[in-house]
Amino acid sequence: MNWSPQDLTPFNTFGLTAKAESYAALTHMDQLLAWAPKSAPELVLGGGSNLVLSSEITGKTLHVLLKGVEVLEEKGSRTCVRVSAGVNWHQFVIYALQNRWYGLENLALIPGTVGAAPVQNIGAYGLEVCERITSVYAYEYGSGMAHLSPEDCQFAYRDSLFKREPGRFLITAVDFELGTDFPVRTHYGAIEAQLALHEIENPTPPQVARAVIEIRNKKLPDWSLLGNSGSFFKNPVISKEKAEQLLINYPDMPKYPLGNGQVKLAAGWLIDQCGFKGKQVGNVGCYKNQALVIVNHGGATGEEVLTFSEKIVDVVKDKFGISLEREVRFIE
Ligand code: EPU
Repeated sequence: MNWSPQDLTPFNTFGLTAKAESYAALTHMDQLLAWAPKSAPELVLGGGSNLVLSSEITGKTLHVLLKGVEVLEEKGSRTCVRVSAGVNWHQFVIYALQNRWYGLENLALIPGTVGAAPVQNIGAYGLEVCERITSVYAYEYGSGMAHLSPEDCQFAYRDSLFKREPGRFLITAVDFELGTDFPVRTHYGAIEAQLALHEIENPTPPQVARAVIEIRNKKLPDWSLLGNSGSFFKNPVISKEKAEQLLINYPDMPKYPLGNGQVKLAAGWLIDQCGFKGKQVGNVGCYKNQALVIVNHGGATGEEVLTFSEKIVDVVKDKFGISLEREVRFIE
């Protein structure tokens, strides 16, 4: 591996000004196996889409740029594919659709890489990526290559073993089982309304992908124009009793009962109710169409983003008694 200082501003979708003390690009598995690190680098960078970077990243930054998509097996309507960790997520979703490897269409346009997808079990419009993953390949620091089943990965809402035990594994490839026989999922969010605009009644997976892309483009800012990391906070899960209490004062509050005595609320709505939507403080602010997305209006640092986000947490806590948790990772 060749280590040298590197400007990370172009490598994080928030566009935060950040420098790595010691950076190297991982493009081939042999490099990793020859290096055989005993412990994790301070930062493993994929698409840089779910991170808030502090200005100076000390220690090692490893940029995972492993590429490649390989068909492992075709069985009837299903195809098993192995995708390297550094492949861009959205480009893979589009490539899969072109090959009629369906089943990921609801996850179109999510930024980041394939290797990052299992870490926080990316999800959108009623689908989580863990539903299509059959294996994860990872380098376990101090030990060697490991093959993890979906059960081993302990997937949960925006969570997995990789998130719970950071510094244990470096994901190198992910296997998916895709195919033409997954029923399309259109019940969630605005998908049906978007399809109705196009007068589509029985949508194909590419049509669902198009609807998702259109909805996301309307609601979420394009990071190449306005830096951001998508949803900044997780949607909070609270008890049914607490939700019922809140509904007395806020009857319009969006709520998603989870069926286990718990209710998921919309963090974006809570933040919006506190008046943050479209609000700017210095170089950062909440996006005008979706308060859950913190944006960089230009030249922001991670420290500024963090201060602004802590203000949001405090105000939401005061108004609703709910503690928002960050979905993005802060890297010091
Ligand atoms: N809302 C407001 N004001 C706002 C934002 C939202 O009132 O400023 C309301 C909306 O009207 C809606 C509810 O809050 O009733 C939920 O908002 P939305 O449908 O935009 O979805 P979300 O729950 O905020 C989640 C994911 C997104 C994913 C969408 C679509 C989380 C934390 N976020 O957002 O994921 O794209 O659902 O499935 O689970 C991401 O993780 O980066 C991400 C963008």
